[in-house]
Amino acid sequence: MSVEPVFEAVAAAGSEIRDALAERRSYEEEQNPSGERQLAADVYADDLLGERLLELDSVTTYASEERETVERRGTAADPHHVSCDPLDGSSNLTSNNAMGTIVGVYDQPLPAPGSALVAACYVLYGPVTTMVTARDGTVAECLVENGDRTVLNDNLTIPEDPVTYGFGGRIPDWLPDFADYVEDIESDRLKLRYAGAMVADVNQVLSYGGIFGYPMVQGRPEGKLRLQFEGLPMGYVVETAGGASTDGTRSLLKRSPDSLHERSPVFVGNDPLVERLEMAMADGDA
Ligand code: F6P
Ligand code: MN
Repeated sequence: MSVEPVFEAVAAAGSEIRDALAERRSYEEEQNPSGERQLAADVYADDLLGERLLELDSVTTYASEERETVERRGTAADPHHVSCDPLDGSSNLTSNNAMGTIVGVYDQPLPAPGSALVAACYVLYGPVTTMVTARDGTVAECLVENGDRTVLNDNLTIPEDPVTYGFGGRIPDWLPDFADYVEDIESDRLKLRYAGAMVADVNQVLSYGGIFGYPMVQGRPEGKLRLQFEGLPMGYVVETAGGASTDGTRSLLKRSPDSLHERSPVFVGNDPLVERLEMAMADGDA
């Protein structure tokens, strides 16, 4: 079954989400299943993407960071199961910084392992709206305007010489081996860039080369990012673009979440930087 209808629906919804942001910057009473406060824009984006994706013939289930359980509709011979982070980095709406939408397409019901991914994409709401799609071994980048996509690069690959790095979590909470690793790569003349929205940070890594991650921290060994909604789709995009991903030990695509909202340390970037990270973490007590 082609994933094109999913990409088309995400691009169309992405334009509508972007247009809706200005009026939806206030917080709601509710929290999402990860215990984060929801903005009106989170709820709007989730409702719209759920509706648009579930009306496709190929999509029979929709799971989202903003919903406790998987939504089901219809049947299909060879169905797609979709995971969604409707508005990644939405706390940036307060400070008017970049945000995104992350979508994973699986051939197994969710929770599903990285090996079940057949495609993934993200939309970046930056100064312009762009969309990056990964399928069949190829990553493409498009400009999105009024729901229409114009191809900017039909074979996006991660630049070989890394330029940027950025990691989440409070630095005093980083584990010693991880802190040592960061110090080590800083001496490689990499530049710090941290957007506070995974989509923006990953797009930066794909644009310039480098590494982004949200590590394990003191008291929270599982880190912050959700494996199904954030780690797996973005790991798929970056690996398809010729980069690497890891949870600190192995490729994210080898992971299999036990539950929908499970968290995991997540790192994506140039292969040599990811490999060095795994070696640093294996050496010590982290
Ligand atoms: O979705 C979670 C998220 O907003 C990511 O987009 C981002 O990378 C991270 O959290 C930022 O977390 P923090 O505010 O702790 O830096
Ligand atoms: Mn997110």
